[in-house]
Amino acid sequence: MLPDSRGVSRRAFLKSAVAIGGASALAACMEREEVDVPSGVDDPSSLPERQHAWNDVLSRDDAGNVVPPRHHALVHLDLDDTPTADDRETVEAALRVLERAYERSNDGVLATLGYSPVYFDRFDSELPESVHLPEPRSLSDFEDPALDTPDAILHLASDHASAVLEAEEAVRGNRDTANGVDVDAALADVFSVADRRSGFVGEGLPAENQDTDGVPDSEPVPEDAPFYMGFESDFEKSQATEDRVTIQSGPFAGGTTQHASHIDLNLTQWYEQDDRESRVAQMFCPAHADSGAVEGTGGNLGTDPGMDDCGDPVETGEDRGVVGHSQKLQRVREDGRPVILRRDFDSTDGGHAGVHFLALQREIAAFERTREAMNGDEVSGETPVGRKRNNGIRQYLSVTHRGNYLLPPRSTRALPTPEGSDA
Ligand code: HEM
Repeated sequence: MLPDSRGVSRRAFLKSAVAIGGASALAACMEREEVDVPSGVDDPSSLPERQHAWNDVLSRDDAGNVVPPRHHALVHLDLDDTPTADDRETVEAALRVLERAYERSNDGVLATLGYSPVYFDRFDSELPESVHLPEPRSLSDFEDPALDTPDAILHLASDHASAVLEAEEAVRGNRDTANGVDVDAALADVFSVADRRSGFVGEGLPAENQDTDGVPDSEPVPEDAPFYMGFESDFEKSQATEDRVTIQSGPFAGGTTQHASHIDLNLTQWYEQDDRESRVAQMFCPAHADSGAVEGTGGNLGTDPGMDDCGDPVETGEDRGVVGHSQKLQRVREDGRPVILRRDFDSTDGGHAGVHFLALQREIAAFERTREAMNGDEVSGETPVGRKRNNGIRQYLSVTHRGNYLLPPRSTRALPTPEGSDA
């Protein structure tokens, strides 16, 4: 890829433009990106009821794995009062602008709007039993995250940095048009923006963004890695299906829950002391390191990382002093698949390499038990010969923030009451 006149590669600039945000980043980005972003639809009846129904419209790689959009923004929104019918109309109209402006695809823009427990606290009634949406909390003894409490969260995603930025400027009320469509309503007419976070995922982007705290100066991130830690992670068989994460009954049937944490990565030891075999052992499992099952970033694994061959994590911990991240998570699988659908992406927010760990699941409890399995408390501590065990990738991660949200189905996505209606 060619550096531009200021020595910044075009793709790295596009990523950092999303990190910077705002009108001037958008203007600079549009000038450089020069893409035709496909339009959305005027008739919303063709749109799915599930806001999270992304997999059918996302690209697939040669093996058949879903390829996530490359650029992301998470916009935190606050609401002062109890919403009125007018507020609901405005929010619905603002979301319709995005749907008219952008095709739902990697080339267009995908969006979801979710609501936190704090949002629902303002109503007299409670959420129904079919929705499990606790306040976020610390999920291990070794973390002390800030607990995010915006009322709502908007997730915007596209392969085009300019499309993410433009969509964000539109919902903030800073643009008259979005991809040629009139912006006749904005989320900012009802909400105030409390925070924004951003990130990227996909081949090349982590390497291009490795000049940041948390990654050693030797620029060790493989050129083709989709994530900072150097491996693919979105294998079809190591993801829950969208059906598995969808709420089945009650007023929010067709919705899902979203956990969004921010994790700082500290990769000095990962890249400077651990060799490749040890990285494979810690990420997948020691058996995969022994057999050479993982080539490069893991693209050779197709749709299935073959975790059945890894053996019991406690035994591996005893025998080898290392247990794989993914190996520990096998025991929370149901019907051979995980119960969470990961849509995480990397980030340089705060000037530090990190991950926005965004996961969808039918109930937040499914995320919490997955995280507990990842803690692997039963495999921590010292081995019989006094060596400290390497417990997956835990030691490279510090969770800085956690937030929980309900993503209602499309029909009740505009400021729902706990009953799922605007009654
Ligand atoms: C933030 C840094 C993280 C990185 C770099 C990372 C990386 C990976 C990679 C490379 C895989 C692929 C191996 C496979 O598919 O079997 C994987 C799988 C997985 N990860 Fe992570 N992960 C991270 C954090 C988390 C967290 C916080 C959770 C949830 C608590 C999580 C849950 C999972 C699950 C459920 C799987 C699939 C396991 C299975 O196949 O059953 N990961 N991760």
